[in-house]
Parts: sequence; structure tokens; C-alpha cells
Amino acid sequence: MAEPRNASILIFDSGIGGLSVLKEMRIILPSMRYIYVADDAAFPYGAWEEQELLERMTKLFAALIERHNPGMIVIGCNTASTLAIHHLRKVYPDQIFVGTVPAIKPAAERTHSGLVSVLATPGTVRRQYTRDLIKQYASKCHVRLVGSENLAQLAETYMRTGFVDEAAVKTEAELCFVEQDGKRTDIVVLACTHYPFLVNRLRKTAPWPVDWIDTCEAIARRAVSLASDLTFKPRDAALPDIALFTSNQVSKEIQRLVVGFGLIGTAYP
Ligand code: DGL
Repeated sequence: MAEPRNASILIFDSGIGGLSVLKEMRIILPSMRYIYVADDAAFPYGAWEEQELLERMTKLFAALIERHNPGMIVIGCNTASTLAIHHLRKVYPDQIFVGTVPAIKPAAERTHSGLVSVLATPGTVRRQYTRDLIKQYASKCHVRLVGSENLAQLAETYMRTGFVDEAAVKTEAELCFVEQDGKRTDIVVLACTHYPFLVNRLRKTAPWPVDWIDTCEAIARRAVSLASDLTFKPRDAALPDIALFTSNQVSKEIQRLVVGFGLIGTAYP
């Protein structure tokens, strides 16, 4: 029988986006310890070249696995998962990885008009992984991929300072709204974990109502289903839930933000 694993889940993102995943995870897996890692020194991931980012992530994970040996790893980032999940599983076969990929399948199943948009970082829009999902699950739909340069940063600013530039949010999402042959886009997939934090502003500035779909809850459910096949040690009550930032800059704002999510900002790694 396999050795029991540490009762900890490491959630990884380029910034604060994975906190939207953490929120869901806590609801359905409350007994685990959470280690949140933001590679903020490299934010935004959406702008990186694939090879360089893959190398960076592979090195980061070597350090994180050695230091924390988590029971499970959730890549709470579409840009990172669509690039690196297969590779990381190969390089670290003893780890259990849960990825985050654009919710194209549920969108294709739910759309009435057949017009679906995927709002994501430029990196996720470029990925073959994303195009394969469309081919596999949404070949009967008209899928528009919209790469947003600034929305993840707008979400970072909002979460850190409370300020949101609504006009800029509107501009970033504008291309998602398509009218064609008397039909309109009825679903927009939020394919970046930063975006759910801006969903109210997206809703408010949209030219017509649509369904905004994200994957946070589905990821948490996937983690639960994997966890049910594993054995975990009892959680060590002395170890708190923590947040690590690769920049090692944990400002007052950041500390306040992560405390709101039940984490303590501490030194990386
Ligand atoms: N949160 C990340 C995602 O889900 C992207 C943000 C970035 O560009 O770093 O895609």
C-alpha cells in the first residue's frame, strides 16, 4: 500500500488568481492544510514565451516539492496548466497534479445560440491545448478566442487596492460579444483564474447579459475525487495555512489580502 501523503494542498498561480480556486477548495476540502504560491516575480504569465516559462516552472516546482512535499498540487492558473501540466506530471511522477483548463466543454453543452467566447490571457489563447479543447468539445459552436493583455493586472490591482477601472474592464472584454445571423454570444468562459474577481464589473459593463463560466468549482470537485482515492496523514495542527510570493515582497496590502483568505504571508520557498 502507498505511504500516506501529507495532508496539504499546494495551490499555484502567477499571482492572486488562484485564490479564487482556494476559496472553492476550502469549502469542499476543509480539513487540508493550504500552501498558496504566487509566482508574482514573473507575473504576468500570459506574456511569457512557452519554453522559458516551462523551464522556470519546472525549477520552481523542484524547490517547492523539496521544501513542502505537498499531498496534492493544484495549478490554479489556466496559462500555466495549458502549458506545463503534462510536462510536470512526467518530471514529478510521485506528485498528484490537478490542472485548470478553460471550461470549453461545459460552455459548448450549455450554449443556446452556439456563439461562445473564451476570455483568457494571450498565452492561453495561443496554446495548442486550448485549440484541441475546442476541436474536441466545441466543434459545433462558433468559438471566439479573446486574448486580454490587461485584465489579469486589473484584477490584481482590484484585489490589492480595491480600485477597479471599469472602462478598462469593458474594453478588455468587448471583443467577446458577437452578433451573427440574428444570434448573440450567450456564454463567456472566464479562462483565467484572476477574472472571477472582476465578474461583477464584467456583468455591469457587458452590452447584453451572458453566462460567465469559470472552472474554480470544477477544479475543487476534481481534487476531492482524486483525494478520495488517496490516504493522508493527519493534519499537523501546528502548521498554519501560508501564502508564498516568489518576489518575497509581502506588503501590508498583500498580508491583509491573504489573511482574508485564511493564510499567513511568509518567506518563499
Ligand atoms: N491566473 C492566470 C490564469 O489563470 C493568468 C494571469 C497571468 O497572466 O499571469 O491564466
